[in-house]
Amino acid sequence: MQGVWRRVVRFSVAAATLACLGTAWGGQVEVLHWWTSGGESRSVEELKRLLAAQGHTWRDFAVVGGGGDSAMSVLRSRVLAGNPPAAAQIKGPAIKEWGRLDVLADLEDVAAAQKWDAQLPRVVADVMKVNGRYVAVPVNVHRVNWLWINRDALRKAGARAPNTWEEFFAVAEKMRQAGIVPVAHGGQSWQEFTTFESVVLGVGGADFYRRAFVQLDPKALHSDTMSRSLQTFRRIKDYTDRRAPGRDWNVATAMVIKGEAGMQFMGDWAKGEFLAAGKEPSRDFLCVSAPGTARAFSFNVDSFAMFRLKDPAAVQAQKALAATIMRPEFQQSFNLNKGSIPVGTGVQMDRFDLCAQESSAYFVATAMINTLVPSIAHLMAQPASVEGAMREAVAAYWNNERMTTDEAMLRLVAAAKPTAARPAQP
Ligand code: GAL
Repeated sequence: MQGVWRRVVRFSVAAATLACLGTAWGGQVEVLHWWTSGGESRSVEELKRLLAAQGHTWRDFAVVGGGGDSAMSVLRSRVLAGNPPAAAQIKGPAIKEWGRLDVLADLEDVAAAQKWDAQLPRVVADVMKVNGRYVAVPVNVHRVNWLWINRDALRKAGARAPNTWEEFFAVAEKMRQAGIVPVAHGGQSWQEFTTFESVVLGVGGADFYRRAFVQLDPKALHSDTMSRSLQTFRRIKDYTDRRAPGRDWNVATAMVIKGEAGMQFMGDWAKGEFLAAGKEPSRDFLCVSAPGTARAFSFNVDSFAMFRLKDPAAVQAQKALAATIMRPEFQQSFNLNKGSIPVGTGVQMDRFDLCAQESSAYFVATAMINTLVPSIAHLMAQPASVEGAMREAVAAYWNNERMTTDEAMLRLVAAAKPTAARPAQP
């Protein structure tokens, strides 16, 4: 008899899970995100459409601001007020920090039904779990260490895509002489930090990057290699224009798209902007590894963490959202627009362009040779408190030409130390 009951219970659990994963239940899911640029909104539309097809309503909670700083402040106040959204774009170590506050929902049933453990690379799955249980769902893998180049600008400058820093500065010089702004930069601290991490990866290599930004080793943060990285970083500034301060990243990308500027350091969400503008890789623009980083990959995995909710219909909608994100058809259509690559295995890559195919091959290859590193500027390597303090140090150095490299390194070392004044917080 017990056996029969066990089977009945097992059947009901399976039926309930299937119901969550699929059909119309009609719940509402409020989603906090910062995907508001051209390419980003096209990608998000895909998710809204697939959710609506299952009878659920998407309530958009978009907070403008690349990199997500403003979105995270808004999230903190909503959670503190006891009114969290159903899902929020939360990434990296912050997932565990929110998990510790005991506010996240358990997604184990969805994860088991779709076999997430088998589908996801370990390096990604571990980040999505708190105490061994899934609380977040990954959307994609972005590669941060790219340099985007306008093909015509390169031709006008009579130059070829650079591989090394010296070649990069030679190209930049030629572009300037051809009347093109060599580097499109958006003067916001997260964009400065994005460029800086690629410089450190290119100048110091993956092991050095890891010692500095993952292990926070003061001997790496204050070293000849870090000093050289800071000097290289500052040299780039000479090739940006005066109107950079405050500029949004996608406005900087638009300068490269139009050929007003030649190059941009940015993760491959920039490719989403090129594609949304009808541009094609190789024909109109080039995606090349940031100088010196061809054999490395700094990764940025976007994900949604789910908050614990009371309303059963909303819980169903939330689970449907998580399940939809992990479906291969969503992973394909979303990432085709977003510029990133699918996070799960089993997605056909033949519809993806050369940049994405290269990224996908590098993601696997760099993991094997241990040059796959978490992006510090995109909250993969450190909690927000440490990342924020380091980012401000780098931005201060970029913006204040009187600051010496030594002063900048001392600030980085100080930023890496947890202090009472800067307690860990999500
Ligand atoms: C990153 C995020 C990307 C992209 C970018 C600019 O942090 O991971 O998906 O949206 O910000 O907004």
